[in-house]
Amino acid sequence: MKILVTGGAGFIGSEFIRQSLRSEVAPRIINLDKLTYSGNLENLKAVETNPRYRFVRGDICDISTIDHVFSEERPEIVVHFAAESHVDRSILTPDPVIRTNVFGTFTLLEAARKHRVERFIHVSTDEVYGSIDEPCEANEDFPLKPSGPYSASKAGADLLVLSYLTTYNLPVILTRASNNYGPFQYPEKLIPLMISNALSDQPLPLYGDGNQVRDWLYVGDHCEALGAVIRRGRVGTTYNIGGNCRFSNREVVTRILEAIGKPLELIHTVDDRPGHDRRYAMCCEKIEKHTGWRAHTSFNDGLAATVQWYQDNPEWLKRVRSGDYETYYQRQYAHRFHVDEDD
Ligand code: NAD
Ligand code: TYD
Repeated sequence: MKILVTGGAGFIGSEFIRQSLRSEVAPRIINLDKLTYSGNLENLKAVETNPRYRFVRGDICDISTIDHVFSEERPEIVVHFAAESHVDRSILTPDPVIRTNVFGTFTLLEAARKHRVERFIHVSTDEVYGSIDEPCEANEDFPLKPSGPYSASKAGADLLVLSYLTTYNLPVILTRASNNYGPFQYPEKLIPLMISNALSDQPLPLYGDGNQVRDWLYVGDHCEALGAVIRRGRVGTTYNIGGNCRFSNREVVTRILEAIGKPLELIHTVDDRPGHDRRYAMCCEKIEKHTGWRAHTSFNDGLAATVQWYQDNPEWLKRVRSGDYETYYQRQYAHRFHVDEDD
């Protein structure tokens, strides 16, 4: 089996590659990644000399690069992770989000159609359903109601992917996962940011009242789900993938501080995110019915492993937080902490 992975130097894609190459019948993997701020080849140290692995630096929006890779490698399966993946950045700077997530997906779909791939797995998110009121849960037929540039771009890409099934009979499968956490996650998302700030005794910026609810999925479980979808998923089907683990942000941050042994006073309530979705909740029965997969990592175990990984890898964290990270952090949080100080 030959798999083209896009965005494999990022958080989830790199876990997918490491996990796939550990399996008994390991596929050949070609990892196409532009190496944006969140792409990091350090995440792939464990596999870089593996003969079944090849890295190609390239932009999914670049038609000639994509065409070249498809012609040269003739992948049977595409697993498409590459994206601008962060909501807050998409609010600050939407351009690359729309370009990569929508136009980049289109470019890949065209190449997949031309080169007749056997499966196109599109990795999407529960955010496309928008905020879901209690006690509702979104199943795969739930209407799409994205709230911001990131989720709207992912919803747009989802619809484009499905249109290639209907119009060109491209064998696509769409997956929508909830919030992932685990090792190697760039410290801009809630869990790694809070762990990283707590480890260095910096304030933990909790948006608004902190009662927003997310479902938390351990990244290893997510990648096992994608493996199950590749093996047993049905063409033309959308699968929700959740961790069966819903918590408020305040609860998550509290648990992080308890795990690290730092005081709750580090939590600072700050200015809210514009268009902040209150609650995500999905029903994930279909994937279990079709593939037998269900999440098996408890939040306690997943969080303990994640905290331990960040404690054990201060050099990774230091390198990731150097460069333009500080500039990003200032742009993102300066005005928010300012609100806190005024209170
Ligand atoms: P990430 O930001 O850690 O990684 C994204 C990767 O894509 C990086 O390696 C980056 O270099 C690469 N990339 C970005 N633009 C590119 C381009 N134009 N061409 C080629 N490569 C490019 O993101 P992640 O958290 O690993 O998310 C992976 C996918 O999973 C995304 O599609 C995201 O929407 C989806 N997803 C993420 C979560 C989550 O909680 N992180 C949840 C559900 C779905
Ligand atoms: P995030 O990890 O950015 O994922 P998403 O917005 O895709 O769900 O944020 C998760 C939740 O945590 C979300 O409700 C926003 C909140 N949050 C904070 O309260 N403070 C922060 O500094 C960040 C990054 C997120």
